[in-house]
Amino acid sequence: MNTYETIVTRRAVRHFTDRPLPDEVLTRILEAGRWAGSAKNTQPWHFIVVRSPETRDRLAACGRYAGHLRGAAVAVVIVTGPGRWAALDTGRAAQNMMLAAWAEGVGSCIAALHNEACARAVLGVPEDKQIQLAISFGYPDPNAPATIEGWPLEKVLASVGRRPLEEMVHWEGW
Ligand SMILES: Cc1cc2nc3c(=O)[nH]c(=O)nc-3n(C[C@H](O)[C@H](O)[C@H](O)COP(=O)(O)O)c2cc1C
Repeated sequence: MNTYETIVTRRAVRHFTDRPLPDEVLTRILEAGRWAGSAKNTQPWHFIVVRSPETRDRLAACGRYAGHLRGAAVAVVIVTGPGRWAALDTGRAAQNMMLAAWAEGVGSCIAALHNEACARAVLGVPEDKQIQLAISFGYPDPNAPATIEGWPLEKVLASVGRRPLEEMVHWEGW
């Protein structure tokens, strides 16, 4: 897959097979996150790798739609310091990891951890750090239903698919 194909074919994967993620694949995913650009190159992130099924189960209970963490091979939680650009920097690292994963057939999905105190307690994250999000990684289950927590996608999401280009692109001004 070239870069463009990787970008346009990647969709959120919330259901995984039991196949483990080889260490070298996980390392490449983490390296892709490490090489993301960040504001003033502050590299504000820490990546907490969670293989333990018990810990992923506890983390899944910290978000409203975080159940996919339970079935993943690995979860990566991104933690930053506070700061104006922390969320943007997190997004860039997350997208890098998810694209690097997809380029080798590994699916992924973000989980918002709405109850930050819950995730902090599970992972032992210090109070001066922000828990931004978790990402599930694993090999996609080919028989997966198109659901989130058992709900059809359209019941949970603002939309399914993408708005057309002409609706979002403005030329030379609004
Ligand atoms: C900030 C953010 C938070 C998200 N939180 C969740 C979540 O908690 N649970 C989940 O299943 N998907 C979550 N997602 C994934 C979105 O639902 C997904 O990116 C969107 O529906 C597009 O999916 P698609 O690429 O398969 O079309 C999140 C995505 C982002 C960017």
